[in-house]
Amino acid sequence: MKFFADTANVDDIRDLADAGLLDGVTTNPSLIHKAGRDFIEVTREICGLVSGPVSAEVVALDHAEMMREAEILRKIAPNVAVKVPLTIDGLKTCKALTDDGTMVNVTLCFSANQALLAAKAGATFVSPFVGRHDDIGFDGMALIADIRTIYDNYAFDTEILVASVRHPVHVLEAAKIGADVMTAPPAVIRQLVKHPLTDKGIEGFLADWAKTGQKIG
Ligand code: E4P
Repeated sequence: MKFFADTANVDDIRDLADAGLLDGVTTNPSLIHKAGRDFIEVTREICGLVSGPVSAEVVALDHAEMMREAEILRKIAPNVAVKVPLTIDGLKTCKALTDDGTMVNVTLCFSANQALLAAKAGATFVSPFVGRHDDIGFDGMALIADIRTIYDNYAFDTEILVASVRHPVHVLEAAKIGADVMTAPPAVIRQLVKHPLTDKGIEGFLADWAKTGQKIG
């Protein structure tokens, strides 16, 4: 499963990329607001930090204006994936861009039928939001399993990009289902490394090492 960082914070992106943990990045208008940086400038910087896809989202709602914005975004770097909302205009934009060789991430997916439409429109990625689905009392992971079944039934190449990941169990379940990608905030990716027995083991080894009175080198 590929790991994307769901953030526009370049320090976090650099840190995770240095550990070999990043296959890409996703941003959205809220994350750009949080980063407090110019959208184009920060997207260009992120594209230079990771070689994989970097999602940059259009904010227009109609197809013509989405295409105009997409034109600007895709010129930033070859690894930009234009992010469009799951609407008819978004799907038209997706079809036009992917036909032209641009990666597209269709976002704000909350049903398996929506995911089916995204695949038919040629999306590179579809982003089902598991956390926001859980928040309103639905089972976000059941949605991922349904999309996996449908995409496998028809051999669609659209990658399932599990989004709105809130905790390590979301990552585990997404991996068990066979999602292609998950995008999570850096804090959740860092949580994956933590285990109390790892910490306890390090503590025990260091205590015993100190008793040897030795040094390495
Ligand atoms: C996905 O691309 C979105 O940026 C993101 O995962 C949304 O997550 P949230 O529901 O935590 O805002």
